[in-house]
Amino acid sequence: MSKGHRKVDEEESFGLSDIARIIAGLLLVNCILSYAFTSSTTWGYEGRWIDPHYVNWKLTGNYVNLTLEQLSQYDGSNSRLPIYIGINGKVYDVTRSSSVYGPKGPYGFFSGKDGARAFSTGCFNKPDEFTYDLRGLDLEVALKDIANWQKFFENSDKYWYVGTVIHEPITGDPPAPCHHVKFPGYKKHP
Ligand code: HEM
Repeated sequence: MSKGHRKVDEEESFGLSDIARIIAGLLLVNCILSYAFTSSTTWGYEGRWIDPHYVNWKLTGNYVNLTLEQLSQYDGSNSRLPIYIGINGKVYDVTRSSSVYGPKGPYGFFSGKDGARAFSTGCFNKPDEFTYDLRGLDLEVALKDIANWQKFFENSDKYWYVGTVIHEPITGDPPAPCHHVKFPGYKKHP
């Protein structure tokens, strides 16, 4: 092949870098259009699939099986670790809502614990309520409340199930009763 032909071949060959450039260009146009129409670069989608932390976990993550002590590290106080909440033995990653579940968030008290009891009683100002000790509660009601919250976290677009909590045997007295109106003026929550 002559020198002239080789030059034409090189100019016309379509390599991986061209494909990458086209994809990047299309993504950019997509983001610009999305921003123009929705003021968001993802057409308003804020779910976990745009979170590199979720994608990375999905690709590499193993399910966890944590003791209460290990779980307590995931309370949002260490920004290099995800935020986990436990509900009756199940652990969910709630890092996407760090403003809600982080140390300064309105529901930060649930993080790094298995606070199953408080998910039913709603007694958030009583530290001993953040336990999986359900003694003294109407079990039918408590387990229904807990299952509903587990469903909420499982069906959420933002959160995901990451594993289990190793429950230690329950000893000592159960938490004192908390007389509290769960949803004053509310029928459904959240
Ligand atoms: C058993 C009682 C309750 C439990 C277990 C509970 C639990 C929760 C949880 C887990 C969230 C976060 C949802 C999310 O991640 O999107 C939430 C959000 C919220 N809750 Fe409650 N809650 C209770 C009672 C109440 C009551 C009585 C009120 C109001 C009077 C209330 C007002 C709110 C509000 C305004 C939000 C949204 C917070 C935000 O996204 O910044 N909750 N609740």
